[in-house]
Amino acid sequence: MPTPKLQRQVTTLWDYPSQNYGREDQGDRSYIGATPSYIIWNCLMRYTNEKDLVVDPMCGSGTTLDVCRDTNRRPLGYDVNPTRKDIFRCDARKLPLENGKVDFVFVDPPYGDNVNYSDEKGCIGKLPAYGEEYFKAMEEVIAEINRILRPDRYMALYVCDYYDKKNGFVPIGFRLYQMLSKHFSTVDIISVTRHNKTINMGNYRKAADEGNFYLRGFNYLFIMKKEGRGAPRKVGTMPELPAEKKSRPESGRGGVKPSAKGKAPVRGRSGGASSGRRGTGRRTDNHGKDKK
Ligand SMILES: C[S@@+](CC[C@H](N)C(=O)[O-])C[C@H]1O[C@@H](n2cnc3c(N)ncnc32)[C@H](O)[C@@H]1O
Repeated sequence: MPTPKLQRQVTTLWDYPSQNYGREDQGDRSYIGATPSYIIWNCLMRYTNEKDLVVDPMCGSGTTLDVCRDTNRRPLGYDVNPTRKDIFRCDARKLPLENGKVDFVFVDPPYGDNVNYSDEKGCIGKLPAYGEEYFKAMEEVIAEINRILRPDRYMALYVCDYYDKKNGFVPIGFRLYQMLSKHFSTVDIISVTRHNKTINMGNYRKAADEGNFYLRGFNYLFIMKKEGRGAPRKVGTMPELPAEKKSRPESGRGGVKPSAKGKAPVRGRSGGASSGRRGTGRRTDNHGKDKK
């Protein structure tokens, strides 16, 4: 099915017509929890320039990497459970990168434990959102993003609140925003319409109505800036690319070169080659996310 033209969003309410743009997929649409590529495309068009170094520390199926390659940005992706060879195995709390070298960070973290991404040690998707451990872990991820980001550069965090009948509502968005505000100034807060399948399923809607709770209808996109002594510059100056005409380089090309064979650029911490294994992506909670 043809997908509509890519467009920069101009209000704080973003919607996307389909999970992917163009003829090729970005990331893996069968990966439960894959970020809609339109969201990442819009962030890159506004807050980066060509050749900028873009990091996704929780890369999942690699959507950020593919959008970066489509738009001539240099991507680096990390995950505790790499699903493809161009994603480096690494915990987002200890990235093998020097301080202040990255031009943009996009991150779409687990929203508690509602999706079973993997059984890898360090997977934050194993920590329930109604417990404090999840927030402690995310505090470390956010501090690490601040460490690697250049001054005068931007980052975006995409997240959804949590609800389950037993534990009730957890305002993940507000909690993570408070953490972000300790390091960054706020550029804007975007509300992104969710198109997860369950939202339109009769039994889910009935349960929400009868049980007097709400299905998650939107994600937050927090757009933040690291203030500092970096040279101010114009961003988002690149004209829109005709996505239909571009063919993406093979996975693994176009990114930042590893410092050693199969290894991520190292700062003395672990970050080896990917196993190529795919996460189970099994959803364990019905009111959380499936497709974003
Ligand atoms: C919502 S998914 C990311 C989806 C991705 N943006 C995409 O489009 O496919 C969250 C990811 O965080 C990863 N993750 C969980 N804990 C992590 C950690 N401590 N460090 C790095 N990645 C982690 C999971 O393995 C999962 O792939």
